[in-house]
Amino acid sequence: TAPKVIFSGIQPTGVPHLGNYLGALKQWKRMQDEADPGTTLLFSIVDLHALTMPRRMGTLAQGKREMLAALLAVGLDPQRSIIFYQSTVPAHSELQWILSCTASMGYLSRMTQWKDKMALATNASLQDDGTTKRLKHGLFSYPILQAADILVHRATHVPVGDDQRQHLEFARECVTNFNHAYGGSYLVAPQTMVSPAKRVMSLRDPTKKMSKSDLDPFSTITLADEAYKVQKKITTALTDSDPTVSYDPAGRPGVANLLELWSHFDPHKRTPAVLAAGLVGVQNHLGTLKARVGQAVEAEMQEIRERYLEFLAPGKAGYLDEVVQEGGRKARESAEETMKIVREAVEL
Ligand code: ADP
Ligand code: NA
Repeated sequence: TAPKVIFSGIQPTGVPHLGNYLGALKQWKRMQDEADPGTTLLFSIVDLHALTMPRRMGTLAQGKREMLAALLAVGLDPQRSIIFYQSTVPAHSELQWILSCTASMGYLSRMTQWKDKMALATNASLQDDGTTKRLKHGLFSYPILQAADILVHRATHVPVGDDQRQHLEFARECVTNFNHAYGGSYLVAPQTMVSPAKRVMSLRDPTKKMSKSDLDPFSTITLADEAYKVQKKITTALTDSDPTVSYDPAGRPGVANLLELWSHFDPHKRTPAVLAAGLVGVQNHLGTLKARVGQAVEAEMQEIRERYLEFLAPGKAGYLDEVVQEGGRKARESAEETMKIVREAVEL
């Protein structure tokens, strides 16, 4: 069988939070540690994707450095994993264009994230009359760039959250369309590999996922948050009026989110239900739960936070540059192998 190629990407759009950590970065580290020697691992900080969203000018370079520091802080090893900024490998954009010439408009229009954004813009336009002005083409076509990210490295395994399942299916569709149009098996379809981690929900609204785009700082815990901040955010997390603790995701989503968070960080890997049962008979159930969750998070995150801050210190800037220069060089090599095949197929 062909050697495994693992590829995943993350946007440099803010300090990563515990959802990003549990749903992506920690999984990447585990895959790196468990990979056999023949496996190639590529982790990209996808700065081109970050251009699809409005942002404050002057923040992207810092965001990229922060994400790079986070990847290194969680233990990704540049000797083992290829860590790079997407924009330093122009083949990603080149393949995107080539794929867009065989990709289906209809399929893209049916993507859930596009439909959600479109609905939002349409609602907003009721007030300001700007439907299509607000919607940018990049937001519509970014699944093609995402497909190119994966296919240009001939990725066999793509660990992504459950929310990205549809985009991975689209990447497979791009392979079928391209190979069919040019009559050969030039591109390789990835296997789907969805992260096993459960969605981490917002601490302020447990019906929404924890997200970098949430404006309320109390909704997320970031990799940079000091112990007292972590505890304060957990203490003020939205629960309900029942002062006892039980694991009931549908009926008590706030409490369930805290139990799930604890379970993710529990060194004994106890389930949320077992952790809830362990609190029976304890004074001040909810207060105790919140204290335990804070301790469990801090026990794992303290070292990561310290390393993260060290990597961001001015003295480490040169090292960070070296990491992405070397990563970019290796990623360009990897991409070039595919581009030779693709350019020949399309007669470029
Ligand atoms: P955000 O929504 O915070 O901007 P991204 O969309 O950049 O995060 O996602 C980066 C990675 O982190 C993806 O693999 C995604 O599946 C994962 N991820 C993001 N939010 C969560 C969450 N709340 N719980 C679990 N995983 C998450
Ligand atoms: Na997002």
